Amino acid sequence: KGYLQEVESFNESDGAKIEEFRIKFLGRKGLIPALFDEFKALPGDQKRNVGKPLNELKQATSAKVEELKANSGAGESVKMHYDLSRPGGEIGLGSRHPVNLVKNEIIQIFERIGFNVSEGPEVEDDWHNFTALNFPEEHPARDMQDTFFVARNPDWALRTHTSSVQVRTMENQKPPIRTISPGRVFRNEAISSRSHCIFHQVEGLYIDKNVSFADLKQTLLYFAQEFFGKDTKIRLRPSYFPFTEPSAEMDVYWGLENEVDYRMTKGTGWLEVMGCGMVDPNVLENCGIDSKEYSGYAFGMGVERIAMQRFQISDIRLLFENDQRFLEQFKSAL
Ligand code: PHE
Repeated sequence: KGYLQEVESFNESDGAKIEEFRIKFLGRKGLIPALFDEFKALPGDQKRNVGKPLNELKQATSAKVEELKANSGAGESVKMHYDLSRPGGEIGLGSRHPVNLVKNEIIQIFERIGFNVSEGPEVEDDWHNFTALNFPEEHPARDMQDTFFVARNPDWALRTHTSSVQVRTMENQKPPIRTISPGRVFRNEAISSRSHCIFHQVEGLYIDKNVSFADLKQTLLYFAQEFFGKDTKIRLRPSYFPFTEPSAEMDVYWGLENEVDYRMTKGTGWLEVMGCGMVDPNVLENCGIDSKEYSGYAFGMGVERIAMQRFQISDIRLLFENDQRFLEQFKSAL
């Protein structure tokens, strides 16, 4: 009884005093275990009278210790586990990703001649990614081999190019249109040092009255000389895209091994940089633009390939692994 009173009246907030109290009553050599030892030695008929109050005392003591500890609690555990006087660890400064460095530079070059930036969804419907762009029903690019379809709805896919954004722009704006569409695109291709199933594009679109192939060529020459250096030569090779007619591939000449430029260490002659062409009249009509009044050109380039050339990166996978040892090398690159 006396012990129970002592327990009930005990009130401390100091952690050390609470611990002292706990050891006194509940510790291995404390009062309560000692009472239990005595209890065990009692004859059977007396056990009943002593057992109940003894258990009550034990429970009351445990509850008291828990309660007092909880009240003194938080501050106590901080003191025990953390040294607040220790100096903090270093938090490293991030840097821009090489893909973004190149993408931003491309955007800036086109902004200087009046192009704006447009963006669109990465999950697209068949109309914006293919049909409006004049892809025939049986075109291989629609194949499961190349396109990631959304399992829930076969009309949806991850866009395979940002030409889909240009369709949206043409549907929603009246010419003149002068826009570039940077963004992530997806193709169901085997991953290797040269290609990845995710990459970035910057595509361009210009629609107005009397736009000619000469305008396209001059714009691309301007871009190539701004980006690769002012003596850069370009060439256009005939090519095919469903949405442009005529279509071409643009190559830039970046020197042979013995004609080394200041930022290119091993030229291999002509480098293929982008696809381009005059927007097919069918595409203009699909998007609600009168093809008798307006004409236009379009082009599209892969950012990773240009970044690999710019920074002499030999394996495209390095651009997606986010290995800090790789990324840190671009800290000084603006
Ligand atoms: N959309 C094409 C591609 O993904 C690139 C391109 C854009 C070609 C515009 C011509 C005109 O490769």
